[in-house]
Amino acid sequence: MTMIQSSLNIDNAQAELAGQSPQEVLSHALKSFGRIAVSFSGAEDVVLIDMAHKINPDVQVFSLDTGRLHPETYQLLNRVRNHYKIDIEIIFPDATQVEKLVTEKGLFSFYQDGHQECCSIRKVRPLRRKLASLEAWITGQRQDQNPSTRSTLPAIQIDTAFSTDGHQLIKYNPLANWTSAQVWQYIRANQVPYNSLHERGFLSIGCEPCTRAITPHQPERAGRWWWENPDDKECGLHATNKT
Ligand code: ADX
Ligand code: SF4
Repeated sequence: MTMIQSSLNIDNAQAELAGQSPQEVLSHALKSFGRIAVSFSGAEDVVLIDMAHKINPDVQVFSLDTGRLHPETYQLLNRVRNHYKIDIEIIFPDATQVEKLVTEKGLFSFYQDGHQECCSIRKVRPLRRKLASLEAWITGQRQDQNPSTRSTLPAIQIDTAFSTDGHQLIKYNPLANWTSAQVWQYIRANQVPYNSLHERGFLSIGCEPCTRAITPHQPERAGRWWWENPDDKECGLHATNKT
């Protein structure tokens, strides 16, 4: 793998990738970086694994196991692992931090305190640990998922939330311009394994206590953290969307 991080001009790359297909964006990502991985939530972002696997069967994939995922999501993670014959790196939160949180505040503190504290312990800090080993990561975010926070999402960006002094992290969002309908067409046409919750009214899928099914005309993320303001429906994995 060549490594062009130091010479990557982000403005040029954004202009180049703006109108490109997810596969072209993924090819750019996998050609440009050796230490790069797909971040897989166990939802419809499974399309990224199918596409990336066709470009490079050795593509790295990781998932953050918050300990609170649906059984259906764990089943999908394993099905995807077997279907593509890939390892999926499962990343756990720090046990001491989780134990402290649930001992002091119980198992459902997010309904009173908001989701940020629990998401920080179960998702964001483990992600930060993983991202420290990478030059770039690939997410399944799309502009159409949340008009308040994702409408200007580019195909490639500097991840200002997880870059540190001396470590610039690049973030690819190959599905940025795709609609939910395009994702689902791809899943059906390519017989991609998918989360069975999608057949029960779940569009966006996160942790079990913080995700519920929606009705057909509700916005895609209405079932996530439904007790909170729509502008807060980011858990910190994608804090760059707020800057
Ligand atoms: S979240 O910030 O609200 O939780 P969302 O569910 O929209 O994120 O997913 C957007 C992208 O974030 C996914 O396609 C995936 O790349 C990444 N992501 C979200 N949750 C996880 C997870 N548990 N493990 C790995 N990646 C995740
Ligand atoms: Fe905790 Fe809910 Fe965030 Fe999952 S989505 S980490 S359960 S607050």
